[in-house]
Amino acid sequence: LHVIHVTAEMAPIAKVGGLGDVVTGLARACLLRGHKIDIMLPFYECIQKDSIQELSLMSTYNSYFDGNWIQTNAYSGLVSDIPVILIEPMNQFFKGEDVYGGSYNELEAYLFFSRACLEWMQVTGTQPDIIHVHEWQTGALPLLYWDMYCYLSLQKPRIVLTIHNMEHYGECRQEQLNKCGLDGSLYATIDKAIDDRTIGHNPERLSLLKGAIVYSNSVVTVSPTYLKETLCSGWLASALLKHRDRYQGILNGIDTVMWNPSSVAFLPANYHAHNSAGKEVCKQYLQRGLGLPFEGRVPLVVCISRLVVQKGLHLIKHAISHVEKHGGQIIVLGKAPDGRIQGEFEALANLHNKGSTIRILLMYSEELSHMLYAAADMVLVPSIYEPCGLAQMIGMRYGSIPIVRKTGGLADTVFDMDDQSQPERANGFVFEGIDEGSLSQALDRAFSYYKEKPIEWAKIVEKVMQLDNSWNKTASNYIDLYNSIRVR
Ligand code: ADP
Ligand code: GLC
Repeated sequence: LHVIHVTAEMAPIAKVGGLGDVVTGLARACLLRGHKIDIMLPFYECIQKDSIQELSLMSTYNSYFDGNWIQTNAYSGLVSDIPVILIEPMNQFFKGEDVYGGSYNELEAYLFFSRACLEWMQVTGTQPDIIHVHEWQTGALPLLYWDMYCYLSLQKPRIVLTIHNMEHYGECRQEQLNKCGLDGSLYATIDKAIDDRTIGHNPERLSLLKGAIVYSNSVVTVSPTYLKETLCSGWLASALLKHRDRYQGILNGIDTVMWNPSSVAFLPANYHAHNSAGKEVCKQYLQRGLGLPFEGRVPLVVCISRLVVQKGLHLIKHAISHVEKHGGQIIVLGKAPDGRIQGEFEALANLHNKGSTIRILLMYSEELSHMLYAAADMVLVPSIYEPCGLAQMIGMRYGSIPIVRKTGGLADTVFDMDDQSQPERANGFVFEGIDEGSLSQALDRAFSYYKEKPIEWAKIVEKVMQLDNSWNKTASNYIDLYNSIRVR
């Protein structure tokens, strides 16, 4: 099989959240199974050129946008041994300090990118079996493909869409869709109920994500429980129900090459399930480094998260005060795209960061995230909703016990220690309510277990480190899916 991922993120060079991790991890798993894989992503200005091995200019071509043909460079290279194709238009798109949030029009930039990827395949005569698109950013690609490119030289590819988060549906005006050469009026909301070509929910706007649901050969979301949740609520539920026969949930895995406590260079000591002494070294190292007391057996909770409403902001704030009152330590590593939320957490950081129990670190740092997962006793993921969630799985690989809200992929991967129905799968602490009391109870149970049953705690740490949450388990589901739709 030849699969080309078309994506806005890839770890570690252009990662904001789990999307980047998933693209890299799934690509590696498929490569290891003998398939040909490429990842196409924008050549963001913020990508460090020296983080790409064998970087070279492969082709220069023109791609259409808004009445013009924009000169575009395609570079090839390797990132963590995975082949990448970086698309660089000679205009202002994708310029800026971060992956998202530059001063160009983001929607238009991704519309351009979606077409530029197809254009590249066409000019180079590249015909993958599968084009795998992710999220709203690349949602125009299936529309473009069936409207234009499949009639020309690109007849072979079939299209898979993975939806990582249904909340972001890529609202787009007809005029904007026109700019990438599509006839936006064909996708207007003439008759929502019966017309498959209808991709809007609002007479003014289209949704690129809905367009991709309608026009992809197969649609995947990132956990079985989130699949059920998305069929029951949200305005895309009816579109998904309509295409139920080609919609499935495949649980994400984690990339165990990138997330490996026995080999990553970022840790002061490496360790593994059968010899976790190094984990204690990491904990003390971090405590010392952050000026936290390190004597005695104190439970250390970490929360590593984008600071957005989805992640349960009020619960993260509640955990900060609850842990302090109950003799633990807590470190939050997060960044808020929204200035108001960032300001709230800055105020909390100013209030608490000089004390002896709380550290709120408002930044994005991959290195620090490894340190925190390794140093922690518990990793907190109190999300309001969570399509899959990787933090709980990474935490377990690093021997940190998850405390999670029962939703989406968290419900598929974390099972409560006090659930007597299937004690063999117990691996964390789970709560259901979105109220503060429910979280308090879960934290209290985790703290009692940690303090009162140190031997059992050590056993559970050893157990979670050995759980297989890698792509070993589920990459084959994607490969089966690719095979089931490819043109032979
Ligand atoms: P989401 O994709 O919704 O953000 P996931 O749990 O799927 O949630 O993935 C989040 C990924 O981003 C994890 O790899 C996590 O470690 C990482 N991450 C989140 N916030 C930060 C941060 N401030 N610094 C470093 N890594 C972070
Ligand atoms: C999204 C979701 C998260 C998921 C990630 C990777 O960002 O919020 O739950 O783990 O994508 O699929």
